[in-house]
Amino acid sequence: MENKLRIGIIGLGTVGCGVVKVLSKMDDVEIICAAVKNTAKKREVELNCITDNPFDIANNPNIDVVVEVAGGCAMLDVLKAAIQNKKHIVTANKELLARHGAELFDLAREHNRVILYEAAVAGGIPIILPIKTSLSANKFNSVAGILNGTTNYILTKMDEENLSYEDCLLKAQQLGFAETDPTGDVEGFDAMYKIAILANIVFGKRIDVNKIYKEGITKISALDIRYANELGYKIKLIAQAKKVDNDALDIRVHPMLVSKERPISEIKNATNAVLLNGFPVDKVMFVGPGAGEFPTASSVVGDILCIKSEIEKCGEILPMTTCHHSEYANQIDIEDTKNCYYLCIKAKNEPGEIGKIGFECGRHAINISCIIQKEAMDDGSATVIVITGECLEKDINTMISNLESDGITKVVNKIRVM
Ligand SMILES: NC(=O)c1ccc[n+]([C@@H]2O[C@H](COP(=O)([O-])OP(=O)(O)OC[C@H]3O[C@@H](n4cnc5c(N)ncnc54)[C@H](OP(=O)(O)O)[C@@H]3O)[C@@H](O)[C@H]2O)c1
Repeated sequence: MENKLRIGIIGLGTVGCGVVKVLSKMDDVEIICAAVKNTAKKREVELNCITDNPFDIANNPNIDVVVEVAGGCAMLDVLKAAIQNKKHIVTANKELLARHGAELFDLAREHNRVILYEAAVAGGIPIILPIKTSLSANKFNSVAGILNGTTNYILTKMDEENLSYEDCLLKAQQLGFAETDPTGDVEGFDAMYKIAILANIVFGKRIDVNKIYKEGITKISALDIRYANELGYKIKLIAQAKKVDNDALDIRVHPMLVSKERPISEIKNATNAVLLNGFPVDKVMFVGPGAGEFPTASSVVGDILCIKSEIEKCGEILPMTTCHHSEYANQIDIEDTKNCYYLCIKAKNEPGEIGKIGFECGRHAINISCIIQKEAMDDGSATVIVITGECLEKDINTMISNLESDGITKVVNKIRVM
């Protein structure tokens, strides 16, 4: 390799353009060529070589590092070809890594190349390399976080402006915080990919993304947010992975009531946070911008420069940045997880109804931490809010079915409590 590190970029959208702008201020990194879908599109950056065939990048002998910022899984074969052609990879693509990481990391190991992906989780927050380096002395019990800026923005607006989910989604779309098709964010896919990647490095095991339980925020109502507030909680979309019995992992993404006393409840708008709990460090929280052109470019360019400095210092890549593990984690089913629950119950506004809820909880050995009757409705019903003690998910589900078996009582929402 000559002094300049030679880069090929796949994708010149939000992140790709940010990366080009940041790299353009550096003398020791040269962008050889970029691939896009539509070469006729007007862009904020100008490059001498633009192709619509990403294999031109993967097969170009003058490129040392391929930066993949296109998204989705369409670039799997391109990246495989690039690795086989002895190129290092830098990517921001959480979906590709969560779904096909095992295959790509195996190939990279075989060809003595690295795949760096700091931008794939929590955008501008440095988290992957700090876990692998500064925190490498630790055995972790859990990693949890607010990993999706769009949903955190929507939940923040619902909370602060007392608006419905639909109104806040529209606002987020108008301001560019949510995509026209918001499914990937609001249904929890994005956070699921990110927690799969985090769990992989925190616990040193491969993660089957298809076994991660996932719930989005579409069922959260303004009333849930109001009741949660009254009880001392905020509602957040939390992605978490924790060690349970026999070294199994409990990995999931869903909304949670988070006590206002916890610092993570204070994370607002599009900001992300990652909370690690391990020994000897105890608890550490990383907070920062989870997305955006420049914060994400900061992580991508950081990875590029990391490769450059390692090659310059050692002539090759340090083992620290390579992937070592190949064993799959034992991931438990959501039915076997233990949680405290917030239940929003629509019941008959009659004597004995609260007793009925108490009886059903008691029958399943579910402790009640708090039970409050809210306003009565004109239709003769009333809302009852319950916060339970810790119990098995399968027990709360059976309790709910029994409660609803009268055909009148309805558990309108069940949200787990952090
Ligand atoms: N946006 C963020 O803040 C952020 C944060 C962290 C991670 N990421 C990740 O970074 C990646 C890129 O995100 P983005 O927001 O920059 O996406 P984007 O704005 O939609 O840009 C995607 C780019 O990829 C190009 N592309 C798509 N399909 C292609 C194909 N088949 N061949 C060649 N080029 C193709 C597009 O070309 P055209 O321009 O011609 O359509 C576009 O330039 C994704 O994996 C995303 O999850 C994004």
